[in-house]
Amino acid sequence: MMPHQGKALHQPLKTPVEGFLSLFEPLPLGLAPMAGFTTAPFRTLAARLGASFTVTELVSARGIRHDPSLKRSARYLQPTGGGKPWGIQLFGRDPDDFVFAIQRLLSEPLYRAASFIDLNMGCPAPKVLKEGAGCSLMRDGQLVSRIVGAAVKAGSAFGCPVTAKIRSGVSPDAINAVEIAKAIEQGGAAAVTVHARTLDQYYRGRADWQVIGQVKEVLSIPVFGNGDLELPGDLEKMRVMTDCDGFMVGRAARGNPFIFRALRGGAAEISSQEWLEAMIEHLDASVEMLGEAVAVRELRSHFAFYLRGFEGSAQLRRQVMEPTGRDGVVKILREAARRRKAV
Ligand SMILES: Cc1cc2nc3c(=O)[nH]c(=O)nc-3n(C[C@H](O)[C@H](O)[C@H](O)COP(=O)(O)O)c2cc1C
Repeated sequence: MMPHQGKALHQPLKTPVEGFLSLFEPLPLGLAPMAGFTTAPFRTLAARLGASFTVTELVSARGIRHDPSLKRSARYLQPTGGGKPWGIQLFGRDPDDFVFAIQRLLSEPLYRAASFIDLNMGCPAPKVLKEGAGCSLMRDGQLVSRIVGAAVKAGSAFGCPVTAKIRSGVSPDAINAVEIAKAIEQGGAAAVTVHARTLDQYYRGRADWQVIGQVKEVLSIPVFGNGDLELPGDLEKMRVMTDCDGFMVGRAARGNPFIFRALRGGAAEISSQEWLEAMIEHLDASVEMLGEAVAVRELRSHFAFYLRGFEGSAQLRRQVMEPTGRDGVVKILREAARRRKAV
């Protein structure tokens, strides 16, 4: 049972920091939030295939304040199915926006089922930076303290832990993850995830895992490492280098929800049958959530990742962009499974 389930609304609780990590044991290995990719159907699939927790893509706290009916944001906030822990990620700049959004979400049983609220402090998208949100927050440690303090207070009233996801810093000469992570811990957060790249790196270059180790060294709350986890053996390498408590995997999971199994040291081979079933499960759950036309259109970018690395895959990637209905897509996926030998 999640620590906050069944608690009366607005009943003040001690910040549920202790024991946070035990939600994700034995090996805390999560699917990192990715806009456009970590939809509820994909999160559910990843959780079934070995992610111990998942996080929604970033959702605007101010957007929730302006649209408390959640008409525009509801689709991004849908729970991950299957019962594993999941978090809702919010972005913004104004502490009051975060408080409003957290109270609004946690007053509703559907969203109160979330295991934690994560605060986005790492997004490099110009649209988000323009609002002074995302990774911009790392320029202002005092504001980070105020946001985390306010969010933790709002979450605590519902027994819901608050976490934050940061980058190494804004630029190579402004690596301040340690200072920001300390402010986050002092604000009462339950954990910090460090994506070990700077803002100006965007997603380029290699992540510098040493920064994760520097953060871990000074924090008492759990630290999750993120950046370039791709291959069996990578978790071990990151843990040896950083002593981090858990992990988050982003891009390597796109079109490959089996990555969690491989990273855990399980079977790296994916049979064509299970590969096909995963894609169809992803498609059908998306059709159910979004309707056929929208789901088929939106899943094209996912299939561009699934259909890679075997003979004829480039042609199939082009073909899968064409159908407008579910059955047309499935026909191409079946053909892909025939052509693809077990990898
Ligand atoms: C398409 C895309 C969308 C992303 N969206 C988010 C997001 O909504 N919130 C967030 O905190 N990070 C987001 N990220 C960053 C990832 O969570 C992760 O930190 C980053 O990709 C590094 O991990 P990786 O090397 O495993 O991909 C996004 C990354 C990508 C590629």
